[in-house]
Amino acid sequence: MATNYDDIADEYLQTKVNPIKKYSEEFTFFQVLGDVAQQAVLDLACGDGYYTRAVRRQGAAPVVGIDLSAEMIRQAEAVEAAEPLGIEYRVGDVANLGVIGAFDVVTAVYLLQYAATESELQGMVDAIYANLKPGGRVVMVTGQPNLTEAHLAAQMHYGVTIKPQGSLADGVCIDTTILVPEGAVTFTNHHWTKAAYAHVFQQAGFQPLVWYPMQISAEGLAQYPAEYWRPYQQYPAIAVVSAAR
Ligand SMILES: C[S@@+](CC[C@H](N)C(=O)[O-])C[C@H]1O[C@@H](n2cnc3c(N)ncnc32)[C@H](O)[C@@H]1O
Repeated sequence: MATNYDDIADEYLQTKVNPIKKYSEEFTFFQVLGDVAQQAVLDLACGDGYYTRAVRRQGAAPVVGIDLSAEMIRQAEAVEAAEPLGIEYRVGDVANLGVIGAFDVVTAVYLLQYAATESELQGMVDAIYANLKPGGRVVMVTGQPNLTEAHLAAQMHYGVTIKPQGSLADGVCIDTTILVPEGAVTFTNHHWTKAAYAHVFQQAGFQPLVWYPMQISAEGLAQYPAEYWRPYQQYPAIAVVSAAR
């Protein structure tokens, strides 16, 4: 069963200070995303709006954020009320989203691995396709599709424990625990292989998926010595992937 973020919203927000998120996840995601100025962006699984605000600040408009968790959306709306950027947030399940607009870009940072079954995964990917303009693109961060024991061991260097609940077949549950300033946060999602992703994106009508190597920002390389990054560079537990409609 995937985690309900209503229960861990506050703890999850503390994971943003993890060096991997700060210096690699975010950096690689924005490198791949590129210029979104004047583009209509739909941010799926937007959480508290961390990436939603970032794309809006880069000039994207209009910007809409969707998340399953009412508590995550409440937090996103609280930030919007305090510092209005003109972002619209809605509670919703991406697997049953339907068409809410025609966007130039869809972003989805940690959405797909919350699909528990291939039909749910297909529902999410169909919704992404349906909400993109022809020629639009989706940029996603997801779990490492080639996960091995070496990837699991490497994450221990960064305060992250990843425990698959069975052999690494499509749909298997994965428990992840991340150390945060006030303790630890654990959430459960699902493993999907590159073959499964390729199949559902092709079925939806997308151009072939493009997988990108994880990068580390110059700031991250300056903050931590080369040996700190080595296990992660060899065995990243996350991946950035995009596709064009
Ligand atoms: C790891 S958080 C990522 C939040 C945000 N993208 C970020 O990086 O800060 C995963 C989010 O996915 C949301 N989520 C899970 N399944 C979803 C679904 N079917 N539809 C919409 N959101 C979903 C959760 O509620 C949670 O907020």
